[in-house]
Amino acid sequence: MIPSTAIKLVRHNVANRMMTRSMHDLSMRQKTGQVMIKHGLGGRSTTNGHIATVFGCTGFLGRYVVNRLARQGTQVVVPYRDPDEARHLKVTGDLGQIIPLEFDLRNKEQLRECVRHSDIVYNLVGRDYETKNFTFDAVHVDGARQIAEACAENGVARFVQMSALNASEDSTSRFLQSKALGERAVKEVIPDATIVRPGIMWGHEDRFLNRIGTGDGWEFYTNEGNTKIRPVSAVDVAHGLEVIFTAESSMGKTYEFYGPKEYKVKEIFDLARDITMKPLPIRHIPNSLLKYGAGLIEKLPYNQTISADLIERRSMDDKISADAFTFEDLYINPTELEHVAIQFMRRFRSNAVFDLPYEKGEGKVQKGVYHLID
Ligand SMILES: NC(=O)c1ccc[n+]([C@@H]2O[C@H](COP(=O)([O-])OP(=O)(O)OC[C@H]3O[C@@H](n4cnc5c(N)ncnc54)[C@H](OP(=O)(O)O)[C@@H]3O)[C@@H](O)[C@H]2O)c1
Repeated sequence: MIPSTAIKLVRHNVANRMMTRSMHDLSMRQKTGQVMIKHGLGGRSTTNGHIATVFGCTGFLGRYVVNRLARQGTQVVVPYRDPDEARHLKVTGDLGQIIPLEFDLRNKEQLRECVRHSDIVYNLVGRDYETKNFTFDAVHVDGARQIAEACAENGVARFVQMSALNASEDSTSRFLQSKALGERAVKEVIPDATIVRPGIMWGHEDRFLNRIGTGDGWEFYTNEGNTKIRPVSAVDVAHGLEVIFTAESSMGKTYEFYGPKEYKVKEIFDLARDITMKPLPIRHIPNSLLKYGAGLIEKLPYNQTISADLIERRSMDDKISADAFTFEDLYINPTELEHVAIQFMRRFRSNAVFDLPYEKGEGKVQKGVYHLID
């Protein structure tokens, strides 16, 4: 017979152990002193106590960021303009963890609603082209400022602003100019905001490899294909944003996320030809003529493919700032495009050669390279 006092003691100990929390179950926002308590074992069926808002979640990068936050138990607010564009995000987190909210970039009340409960806000909103409703400045400067102001008013602890590599107020590209002005606008409102400048991103839904693969005779070289770029994986960028999520040391810092290797644009076309086993013919048109033509085309309604500013950007080499932080500071080993490009470009092959191996790249995949199928 076990004495009842012993049973009571065991019960007391078990109850106590269940109540005990380890340090790793707690995290604190430095700026606001908010303490987040994790419930559960970790992963999707857990809540980590954080609430994040990801503006621009309906775009290419957005899905990877929402997925990474949600799968570690973060409740994610996903502001959308078109509900169909946000629907796929629902399954990235547990039931009730993904919260779609309608918003308009110019509606302050809706912006406040989107950030009210969050301890971190990401602004990934951006556009490669101007529309009759939104200029570059309206999206990248005024829009960013509005979101930052809504965050400041609601005491949001962290703000992460997505800019672009080469962003500069003196840039000859209006897109890059507006990105730099957007950084400044955000910093004026939230001085400890984190700025992230990615290079051209590649991935399954990108506008880079997909454009090259589908171009098939309609693509053109600017700068005779000699522009030097450092393309970066969208998965690596999302990984960086995930690390920044908890790294309070990243507050107030500027990060530049670029790929480990510099390529000339014509080298990427050669890679695409090797992989797709297609000739992918290219047109050589002088820059001045391209800009003139693109300037005319961009006036057409519903044109989303080409603009004079895009030609300007495609003629500019990627420049890295010496004082910006990089993937290395976040202990991320970025993936080299040519090692994995086959995963993204095989689908452009013809049926006759679809299954043929691509030895150049496939043999080289390194151990320890970050997995890409997110
Ligand atoms: N992709 C790249 O290679 C690259 C390179 C450097 C920097 N960046 C920057 O990184 C960020 C994410 O890139 P991404 O490729 O994921 O962009 P994306 O696919 O073009 O997505 C842009 C997002 O911004 C939203 N958006 C655009 N204009 C808006 C407006 N007027 N009002 C409200 N929302 C608006 C879009 O919402 P809707 O779905 O409703 O349109 C979408 O969610 C952007 O800021 C981009 O400029 C991208």
